[in-house]
Amino acid sequence: MTEFETLVNPPQEVFEQIVDLTSATEDWAFQLNDYNFWKTNFDQFWLVTVVEKGTLNLVASVSLARWDAPDGPLFSIGMFYCVQKYRGQGLGKPIFKQVMDIVGDNNATLTGVVKMSAKYASDFGFDKVPEHWHLFSALKCADAVVPDKVSDKYTTKVWSDVDYEALTAYDRTICTRDRKKIMTAWFNLKDTFTRVVLDTSGNIVGYATIRLVSKNKLSPAPFYADNLEAAEVLLKDLLNMISNWQSYASFGFLYPECNQDPLRLLEKFAKSKELVSTVTFIRSQFTKKLIATPDQKVYSMADCAHQFV
Ligand SMILES: CC(C)(COP(=O)(O)OP(=O)(O)OC[C@H]1O[C@@H](n2cnc3c(N)ncnc32)[C@H](O)[C@@H]1OP(=O)(O)O)[C@@H](O)C(=O)NCCC(=O)NCCS
Repeated sequence: MTEFETLVNPPQEVFEQIVDLTSATEDWAFQLNDYNFWKTNFDQFWLVTVVEKGTLNLVASVSLARWDAPDGPLFSIGMFYCVQKYRGQGLGKPIFKQVMDIVGDNNATLTGVVKMSAKYASDFGFDKVPEHWHLFSALKCADAVVPDKVSDKYTTKVWSDVDYEALTAYDRTICTRDRKKIMTAWFNLKDTFTRVVLDTSGNIVGYATIRLVSKNKLSPAPFYADNLEAAEVLLKDLLNMISNWQSYASFGFLYPECNQDPLRLLEKFAKSKELVSTVTFIRSQFTKKLIATPDQKVYSMADCAHQFV
């Protein structure tokens, strides 16, 4: 009979199995370097894994990040996963409990998938939730076309060419917690493209990052804009920045259901509207205090493992 052991912060090789398997079975979109990114940029980070004893063969995983701020720490839980053949044998829940013991009485957040959302609320107190779910709408690159004509009221620049204080200030209108350090590192990641959209007065009205992720996909994460017109300009310029973007598999937005503009945006880039697929994906959940977000500006979350917007 197979025996198991728990490894905390295992070698990179274990994380790479998590990225490969979660993209194959759950359609999650991560980069191989995300483990290193989280370890380096959060105040503390744990990747708790179960492996087949004496090997680095993944069985189950969960990650926990601690992010300090003047209003106290916020913990986030991500990458909760069990290899298909080992599901339902009681291997996942104990490691989830292990990270919740570290969280203690502090506020914690996660993005719960439909099947698990109610369980997180009942068993671990993740019951502070917004009214809406987050939907995931996707489009194959082969089915996408960049519109010829977009608004001339907006222009975009590469993130490193804009006033960085102004960009940080804009980000604080999206995320009330200061994440300058985290987002700066995010923009600097490999295979990552970030542009900022400005109005005719030079005011920032949005920004977005597209990452090249597992399964040859493009992942807009995050994508924020004050209105659909600005979002359209931003998406056009970002795609055009990625050489041969048509050769990738697909791209999609993970967005609050109460904002339908992300769907409209994708439809504008689709050869026909019916080619956009939409599923209910996750719910943003907190244990102690729900942190509000400006949903009308959110076209896609930054990082569904360790961010809440
Ligand atoms: C979710 C997942 C990690 C659970 O792992 P697992 O090893 O199969 O779970 P266990 O055998 O330990 O769980 C036993 C029971 O506890 C529940 N459970 C597991 N983890 C739980 C948690 N963190 N909170 C509450 N309930 C939990 C299970 O749903 C199951 O309940 P059921 O008997 O009513 O179906 C696994 O199903 C999986 O990888 N799913 C796909 C990825 C995914 O959706 N992850 C969640 C992202 S938010």
